Amino acid sequence: MAQLSPLAQAIKQQHLTYLSEQKLHHRLKQIQQNQTPGDIIETGVALRGSAILLARLMPPTAEFHGYDVFGMIPPPSPNDDPKSHQRYQIIAQGASPGLGGHRYYGYEPNLYQKVLDHFQAFGLHPNNPRLHLHRGYFEDTLTFRPDQTIALAHLDCDWYKSVKTCLTRIYPALSPGGYLILDDYYDYGGCRQATDEFLAQHSDLQVVISQENLVLQKSPRASAKSQPTIF
Ligand SMILES: C[S@@+](CC[C@H](N)C(=O)[O-])C[C@H]1O[C@@H](n2cnc3c(N)ncnc32)[C@H](O)[C@@H]1O
Repeated sequence: MAQLSPLAQAIKQQHLTYLSEQKLHHRLKQIQQNQTPGDIIETGVALRGSAILLARLMPPTAEFHGYDVFGMIPPPSPNDDPKSHQRYQIIAQGASPGLGGHRYYGYEPNLYQKVLDHFQAFGLHPNNPRLHLHRGYFEDTLTFRPDQTIALAHLDCDWYKSVKTCLTRIYPALSPGGYLILDDYYDYGGCRQATDEFLAQHSDLQVVISQENLVLQKSPRASAKSQPTIF
């Protein structure tokens, strides 16, 4: 853990995330340097570790929006691979271990309140007007104001349908030069399929990193608000 920042070390020591810090940290620096306008969002907050890092390190002009069901993950669909279905079976049977010997977060009776408590413990007050946690399925919660833009989105939600919903809803609001980080591209086949389908239809999205995760950047020359994609 020697190369991690003190904030990321504290988050990891408390078993609050599966994240690799560098990928988020580096992108946050990049949007600051490039002055990419827009908010920071995460779809799939779960244990809140990556959300805390994003919210603590976001540019001073940005707001953080975290989206999650804050309960049991929805089931995968026929577009997901056998590994995803096996993983879900273990979760649904109540047999998933948690990080660091703790209870798996999906079994927490009040995960939302726990997330708020942890935010507070890391100096992020729930009444801070720049912090927003949206509770429910993305299909119901992931909407943006017409004037809202996004500089960076961390998609960490495992399955085909969730990833596809996120890409479809987020892309029109993504600023030129903004980033999409696909956390599960190399972990789950459904995430990979949803992303590849989306990439095939959006030539203004460029792959900038394809290692561990997939990082996409919208062309800095794209028009400020892209048209929504119809599937
Ligand atoms: C792998 S966890 C996120 C881990 C977290 N970002 C971290 O680094 O610690 C995935 C989360 O996405 C949520 N999720 C997946 N699909 C969803 C959907 N359609 N609507 C709401 N939440 C969803 C799950 O419930 C779970 O909490």
